[in-house]
Amino acid sequence: MRSDDPIDVFRDVLGATGVVTSADLVERYVVDHRDLLRGTTPAVLRPANTAEVQQITRLAARHGFGLVPQAGNTGYCGGATPDMSGRQLVVSLERMNRIREVDPLGHTLSADAGVILADAQKAALDHDLMLSLSLGSEGSCRLGGNVGTNAGGLSVLRYGITRDLVLGLEVVLPNGDVLDDMGRLRKNNTGYDLKQNFIGSEGTLGIVTGVVLKLGPKPVARATVWVELAADAPLARMLAVTRRESADLVSSFEYITAPAIALVQGAQPGALKAGPGGALLIEFSSSSTRLPLDDLLTGTLEAMVEAGWVSDALLAQNDRQRAAMWTLRESIPEGEKKAGGSVKHDISLPLGAIEPFLAAAGETVRCYDERLRLSVYGHLGDGNLHYNVLVPPGAERLAFTDLIEGDLSHRLYAIALGLGGTYSGEHGVARLKRDLLERYGDPVRLALMRRLKTAHDPDNIMNAGALVDPA
Ligand code: MLT
Ligand code: ZN
Repeated sequence: MRSDDPIDVFRDVLGATGVVTSADLVERYVVDHRDLLRGTTPAVLRPANTAEVQQITRLAARHGFGLVPQAGNTGYCGGATPDMSGRQLVVSLERMNRIREVDPLGHTLSADAGVILADAQKAALDHDLMLSLSLGSEGSCRLGGNVGTNAGGLSVLRYGITRDLVLGLEVVLPNGDVLDDMGRLRKNNTGYDLKQNFIGSEGTLGIVTGVVLKLGPKPVARATVWVELAADAPLARMLAVTRRESADLVSSFEYITAPAIALVQGAQPGALKAGPGGALLIEFSSSSTRLPLDDLLTGTLEAMVEAGWVSDALLAQNDRQRAAMWTLRESIPEGEKKAGGSVKHDISLPLGAIEPFLAAAGETVRCYDERLRLSVYGHLGDGNLHYNVLVPPGAERLAFTDLIEGDLSHRLYAIALGLGGTYSGEHGVARLKRDLLERYGDPVRLALMRRLKTAHDPDNIMNAGALVDPA
């Protein structure tokens, strides 16, 4: 005899392995990566293919459940965390992890949305190609989440953000239809570019199940330097000089301040230090060994030293030294966690506004409470600063987060907005920044976003509570 468990209809489609309901196994799906949000769900659905996503979407609509798509669950804004209603089912894409095809001539990779980013990078490398999207969380984030959040990372300066890399998408719409837009065309002027609506939509318009990404030739040469900056080094001008002197072969231009470095190095500072103005990690890369990258980098450094912008510099002599530089940079978020956590501000600015922002924000923090410790770093090459306030020792993390976000954060956002910047460069909006979008968003843009959401998802099935409230 059939039970009256409403989840049984999903078991019929997905089988026992496709549905997780036991509390201990569900736990990791209902808490966000930064442990700021906790929800509840009657079941985690783990479809194995697009047809199954289609069926469970139709069933959810019929039985009055909402769906929360979840890829790697590594996002910073709670986009993959269900609410407390008990009416939202998590749809985990983790079993949809097939690389569908690498096209070596077309320079594209087609894959399921549950493929881990590092596995997609590896699949491209196996064909001597490169997937340029690169993030600290690449070992666990998944392509669907990268698309949903329009993820940024360490090489946006040269290759663009996720949006710039997506050629095609497959999306299960809220009514269960499949938008098959998995084309590999670079040029396609046949009307609205609908896939753009889903990139950065944080699962609110449909469930991305497949993606076609642009690849490039694999870099075979790199030149990397760690630069200790002189006081008042003009960051944006240094970037301009670097782009010019490198013939635009610069693929990363990361800014890191001393307190952020200290989070990783602890009490024993190593060879990689900040100068009075902080530090830069600059990398040039090329797919040809014929280009004199080392010369270009030396020339760039000479120009900077001559201008008095550099107090010291360390060129990576081999891959081990290069890796040590990157490990330091990529370990900062983990260092913040170990130090008790941080309140993150993912500031994006026009390049010329970076130094004015740093000056004004520093002064604002000092006036607010001079005891606060900051961890500031970011992807300077694309104007993205992580301006994070560390939770002080002994403070309760969530209470401190509320305190800062209720006051200081708004002062920082006001500075950024006044300089033509914004409060989310690459981390998204989802649940944790929705109030910011409502507070600072242009009303016409907000109204259009609501209309778009309602047109796609009139019953608000997809990730209700994230990004935009249709009401
Ligand atoms: C990073 O660039 O490491 C992250 O996007 C920033 C962060 O964790 O605050
Ligand atoms: Zn970042």
